[in-house]
Amino acid sequence: MYKGNALVIGASGGIGKALVKQLYESGEYEKVYAVSRTSAASPVNGVQYHSLDSENASLVAQYCQQLKQDNGQFTLVVCCIGALHATDADNQRIMPEKRLEDIQQDQLSFYFKTNAILPAIWLKHVESILKGTEPAKLVFFSARVGSISDNQLGGWYGYRASKAALNMMIKCAQIECQRRAKNISLISYHPGTVETELSKPFQSKVPTGKLFTANFTVTQLLKIIPSLSAENGPHYIDWQGNDIPW
Ligand SMILES: NC(=O)c1ccc[n+]([C@@H]2O[C@H](COP(=O)([O-])OP(=O)(O)OC[C@H]3O[C@@H](n4cnc5c(N)ncnc54)[C@H](OP(=O)(O)O)[C@@H]3O)[C@@H](O)[C@H]2O)c1
Repeated sequence: MYKGNALVIGASGGIGKALVKQLYESGEYEKVYAVSRTSAASPVNGVQYHSLDSENASLVAQYCQQLKQDNGQFTLVVCCIGALHATDADNQRIMPEKRLEDIQQDQLSFYFKTNAILPAIWLKHVESILKGTEPAKLVFFSARVGSISDNQLGGWYGYRASKAALNMMIKCAQIECQRRAKNISLISYHPGTVETELSKPFQSKVPTGKLFTANFTVTQLLKIIPSLSAENGPHYIDWQGNDIPW
């Protein structure tokens, strides 16, 4: 059986780290590549780490060209990039908007850049390493709150809208891949609420038993994706494998 290669983008985050470890330990991949902004604090022996600033699109392009030159086809690429809160360059806290009055231009730019634009740049460049004769999966960590039809509560304007924008990129890309890279299946994944830096300010509101470990949601993802086909894609699914309405 062909053993493909795997790439994790955003490999230093809470979920990214768990994913790299599980992929490597599965033994199912020829090589596991992991890319993040800073070098890994506790690297997994045998994983091919690389530090790169995703905001520099030429570096992303060069890195993907190199991966293509050095390797056979990749069968899995997962992009974990995303943000819900942050501290900006002026030391101002960015927190999700609760009401219209909270909407600010800089904050919206931050959300769209991190949750939609950077993943889209990777989407553009990883097609060439996934395209081939073997079935391949391209997964983006999205969120259920990016669903337009499932939005019952409102709020979180920037995060919701930027994840919805990511979902639209995924939808467009699947249509294009069905014409020119039929082996690639695109997946927009909601991991549940996971115990990482991203959810920290909101964890106290999560009902008992609903705050998952990164390992749990990664195990679920890896269990679910083998059955997802490119013909029926893109797939917008949660950690249980249930479809989320777009
Ligand atoms: N945790 C949850 O409850 C939850 C719920 C729904 C959806 N998600 C989604 O799951 C994904 C992973 O989140 P997490 O929980 O693991 O959060 P996290 O620990 O805060 O990790 C954040 C991730 O985003 C990347 N990132 C952030 N800003 C970036 C930038 N400017 N340039 C490049 N990379 C950037 C980080 O990459 P580096 O490795 O380079 O640092 C890291 O992979 C996100 O897309 C998030 O929206 C999480």
